[in-house]
Parts: sequence; C-alpha cells; structure tokens
Amino acid sequence: MHRPERFRLHAPRSFLAWLEHAVATGEANLDEVSVAEVWALAGLAVLARKNGGDELRLSGGGDRAAMRFAHAVGFDEVVAGQGGLSGEAGQTVGLRRVMAIDVVEGIAREIARMLLPEEEEDETLRSLIYVLVELMRNAVQHSGDPLGCVVAAQRMDAGFRGYERSAVQVVVADAGMGVLEALGATYPDLSDAEAALVKALQPHVSGSFGPGRTGSAFNAGMGLFFISEMAKLTTGRLLVASRGAALLLRGGAGYEQRRLSFLRQRSFPGTLVTFEFPLDEVKDHAALIETISAKAQQRTPERNTSAWVRFEPPPDGTFSYLVRTIAEDVEQAALVSRDQLQKRLFAREAVALDFRHMDVCTQSFLHALLFEAVRISWAVQVPIYVENAAPSVRTGIALVDAYARGG
Ligand SMILES: Nc1ncnc2c1ncn2[C@@H]1O[C@H](COP(=O)(O)OP(=O)(O)OP(=O)(O)O)[C@@H](O)[C@H]1O
Ligand SMILES: [Mg+2]
Repeated sequence: MHRPERFRLHAPRSFLAWLEHAVATGEANLDEVSVAEVWALAGLAVLARKNGGDELRLSGGGDRAAMRFAHAVGFDEVVAGQGGLSGEAGQTVGLRRVMAIDVVEGIAREIARMLLPEEEEDETLRSLIYVLVELMRNAVQHSGDPLGCVVAAQRMDAGFRGYERSAVQVVVADAGMGVLEALGATYPDLSDAEAALVKALQPHVSGSFGPGRTGSAFNAGMGLFFISEMAKLTTGRLLVASRGAALLLRGGAGYEQRRLSFLRQRSFPGTLVTFEFPLDEVKDHAALIETISAKAQQRTPERNTSAWVRFEPPPDGTFSYLVRTIAEDVEQAALVSRDQLQKRLFAREAVALDFRHMDVCTQSFLHALLFEAVRISWAVQVPIYVENAAPSVRTGIALVDAYARGG
C-alpha cells in the first residue's frame, strides 16, 4: 500500500495529484487517505455526487480518521444527493449542496455563525460572510454545473496540525465548465487556463461583459478581485483550481507582499476555490473594503466628476426602498433596479435606498442594484439618495458610483 495521503492546504499539490489519478481511473480509494482538510473533502464530494453516470466512484471503507471525519461532516449525504449536514458549531461546518442564488446569503450567515459563535469579533464574521457569498454565487452563476456547488468550512485552532494561529478555511467547489471557458464568452482570445485565472482576479473582468466595460446589469467582475485582495490583506491563502490550471495566492505581512504561484500541471475538473485566513487578522471589515475599493478605483479611473449618488436623507416624499428585503440576492437586486429605481429615474423622479440592518454587502450585490441606476441618474441628472449605510457599504457604493458614471 502507498504512503497514506495527507490533504492539507499547506501542501495543496498532493490532493490535486491524487484526485487527478482517481479521475483518470474513475475510482477514488478512501483507504489511502489519512488526513483530509475540508477543502479536499468538498473537492472529492463534488465529483462523487450521484448524477446517474460518470461520477467518481468511491471505494475502500475509509476507516481512517480522515474519512471518519468526512462521514461526520456530511460527506455521504452530499454524495448521495441530499442537502448535507450543518455540522458541529464552532468547529466544522458540514458539507452542503447549493443550487440557487436566493439561498446563498442565508447559508453564508449560518456557516459564519457556526464557525464563529457569539464571543467572536463581528469584523471577522463580516469578512467571512462576504467571501462565502461571492464564491457560492460564482459557482451558481458561472459554472453551468446542473448540480450546483458544494460548500464547507472548517476552523483550525492554533496548535492544530501546524497552525500557528487560529484560522478559518472555506471552500466552494463545482464540477462545471471552469474559468477559462466561462471567461471565453467575452475574452475569446484567451486560450490558456493559467492566463484565464490571472485575468479573472482582475477588477472588471467577467464572462458577462467584454473588455473596456465596467459592468453588466448583473456583474461587475469584482468578486474574485475583492477576495484575492482580502487574502493579501489578511495574510490569508487563496487556492483557485479550475480546469487546466491551479493558482495559489499567499498574503504576506505587508499588503503588497503577496506570492502568487501556479501549481504547474495541477488542476481540478470543475472549479474549486479555497480561502483561508487567520481569525485575528480582520480587525476592521470596513477598512478592508475601503483599501480594496481604493485599489480598484485606481485601476478604473473615474470618468466624470458630478456625482448624483448622495449620502444624505432624501427630501420628504421621495420613494425609498429598504434594501434589507433583498439582501445579497443579485437577481432580485437587478429587478428592483429595473422596476423600482430605473423607471423612476427615467421619469426624472429621485429615489432613495435605505441600507439599514445591512452590515455586509458584497460588491457584486451593490453593483447589481446600482450600476444601471447610477448611469441613468447621471444621464438624467436626478439624484439617488443613500441612507443608513454602514461604512463598508458606503465605500462599496461610492466605488460603483465612480466606475458607473458615464462609462
Ligand atoms: N465557479 C466558476 N466557474 C466558472 N467560471 C467562473 C467561476 N467563478 C468565476 N468564474 C469566471 O470568472 C469571472 C470573474 O469572476 P468574478 O467573481 O470576479 O466576477 P463576476 O462574477 O463576473 O462579477 P461579480 O462577482 O462582480 O458579480 C466570471 O465572470 C466567470 O467568467
Ligand atoms: Mg462573482
């Protein structure tokens, strides 16, 4: 028998290589696995999901600790086609299937709360929700995987398996088309999977709109940019493995000290994204968002100076929309934008958005809600008022405002 396999984010190649071999033979022998962090379990589960055909077959009893852990966290349920388990509060969050956009925010909040029970800093919680939402949404929106994606998370306490500081690891995996093909819709010249991964991490790069634009009604191309910058700012790690390439980003002590490397010859038959960051690193979620927004703004120069987004209470009688009712549902956001905001703006009527009770807003959500509306508001010179926005939310709105105007 081979040396037992250890699947850890410290050394991500070994899982990807083992999996490649398993996929080639159609069978994964769980008896070979002695340690498996949750990112690897999600990657394995997503390929073993029953689909009535070419799924990866699992063999071996999996008696070792790794597979006992897998069974405990809902691996079998996900493979069999059930939703999954919710896992143990405070340690690991069970593997789950996610198939629709409208459940993403609720699941992200639930996972974050389980990993970081009450006593933890809310700042870390916000950043964790942010990352989970963006990654699940990407898989559901872009992968084309009819079975959706698998999400899981694990908390690594200091002292556990070489972790010097307590950290959280989250993973979202799908067995879909991969980033190269998804981006190919708008970047047909891209032929190399590594180049596609690098491209996807840049701001305003998306499979839903072409080069030179800053957004479509749905996407800003900001999700992976924000996440990779968060990894840098929090000394975290980001692994993106997607058909034909695998990239590992390690945040350093200083913001710009990042190390981006390719795991040559390694890949994943779908897209697997793992994000890990030390728990004590996020001291101020709003400051993180502010730094990242500033960087995005440098890359997408403002084209117009007269701002029609106003961070002040609207005049009496202004139509005001309570954003919390559609939190993180980008499809609803695009509809509200069209039916509630754009229509009124076209009729030269000011509108207001009330962001009370929204402590986290991903950039993609703000984009879907505001991008077209800001462009119209600028064109017709009618203001959009923004009320009760938390600092990080306000920063995100200002960013959309800056790149949408006139663009
Ligand atoms: N799981 C995935 N499967 C296939 N392609 C993906 C996946 N995740 C991301 N991509 C590709 O990478 C591109 C960039 O992703 P990113 O999250 O940065 O932007 P976006 O999703 O297009 O826009 P936004 O996140 O602002 O809504 C996507 O448009 C898509 O082409
Ligand atoms: Mg996205």
